Amino acid sequence: MDTLRRWVGSSSQGISNKFAELEKKLNDTNATPMVLPLEFLKNITCDFSRESVLGEGGYGVVYKGVLQSGKIIAVKKLNGIHVDDRMFQNEVSYLMAMKHQNIVKFVGYCAESISEFVEKPSGSGKYILAEMPTRLLCLEYVSNQSLDKHISDESSGLEWNMRYEIIKGICNGLHFLHEQCHIVHLDLKPQNILMDSVMTAKITDFGVSRIFGEQQSRTFTANRVGTLGFMAPEYLTRGEVSNKADIFSLGVIVIEIITGRRNYPDFMHDTPYNIATSLKQFSDEVLGSWRNKFLSRKYKCMEIYTQQVKQCITIALKCVDSSMDKRPTIKDIIQRLNDLDQLAIPQLIHTFPNQKGCEQRMVSLGVSRTKPWIITGHAFGYIDIFDYDIQVNYFIL
Ligand SMILES: Nc1ncnc2c1ncn2[C@@H]1O[C@H](COP(=O)(O)OP(=O)(O)OP(=O)(O)O)[C@@H](O)[C@H]1O
Ligand SMILES: [Mg+2]
Repeated sequence: MDTLRRWVGSSSQGISNKFAELEKKLNDTNATPMVLPLEFLKNITCDFSRESVLGEGGYGVVYKGVLQSGKIIAVKKLNGIHVDDRMFQNEVSYLMAMKHQNIVKFVGYCAESISEFVEKPSGSGKYILAEMPTRLLCLEYVSNQSLDKHISDESSGLEWNMRYEIIKGICNGLHFLHEQCHIVHLDLKPQNILMDSVMTAKITDFGVSRIFGEQQSRTFTANRVGTLGFMAPEYLTRGEVSNKADIFSLGVIVIEIITGRRNYPDFMHDTPYNIATSLKQFSDEVLGSWRNKFLSRKYKCMEIYTQQVKQCITIALKCVDSSMDKRPTIKDIIQRLNDLDQLAIPQLIHTFPNQKGCEQRMVSLGVSRTKPWIITGHAFGYIDIFDYDIQVNYFIL
């Protein structure tokens, strides 16, 4: 409301027409990202007021910008001290081209200088008027906070199917970044995965990413940014940048989504035998814990869920392998998840030669007599049975 009042009260006719024009474009979901005047951004954030703060990170503060229509955008004001022009330009140009449901959409940016009095030198009590570069990024507002606020230990918080959808969403977003945009994110962590109102995961913050050409698959950087705990060992120690660095971070995130913890078996300082043993122990523990939960809740799709947990742990543990060559690519991961999803789709998997042995065959396949079956069709002597418990269709002649 405050924003609306300011809007009406403070702007001259010319400015308000210009702002209205900008608003119109911002309300158009198909519009391309644009340069937004600082004055406009000040207006929609109540002069970057404390009440408008959405959060704060290593690069600056994120504000809520409210348009006249009520639509909200996120305005990330980068810290003056840390602003590196080249980095800013990089982030802007990377973000501009991106459109994917699992990527936070970029709506505009601002690069203006403002005059400010700054102390000269610090503590002297004398002030000079200095040109301060102001850099802002404007992004689609994602309403449901970052992923870290949603994942706790595996026995509370989100249900398994929601966690699985989040894992798939992150993988799809990363697939888009790696395969279509040739971008390495380099700061993948739950704080940089935002959740929308229907819990779709959206990857944000490409400030530390580097773009690759078609032929170039790997590069080195002297200026390492990113977040400890999620950073791949080769990036941490040698500054080696590749898609596999993101895959490592993805592994840590998936483990955190499944277990609620960031712990994973350490590959670095162990014998191969010990590694194999601790990996197995880790997977068994996680799987056992989820299985118990599925059993206690009498889930209908228990077998499918168990397979999903198993596959996700296997993938995640491969992702955090200290040897980057042993980590899968995002393409491999998507393929595996797709294969897994095929199992969950009711399928016609069996054809029987006659009706006599039908019941016996169904029992031998585990189609329970006591749990709900649905006969979905019996044309021309065919019986099509859908077992809700294991979500499989049996096609019986
Ligand atoms: N597009 C957005 N929509 C809604 N809230 C956002 C958006 N972008 C950021 N935020 C909020 O602002 C907070 C701070 O984000 P920011 O990216 O500045 O910091 P961070 O992710 O914690 O750390 P880093 O600086 O390493 O990225 C986020 O945790 C989130 O709550
Ligand atoms: Mg961030």
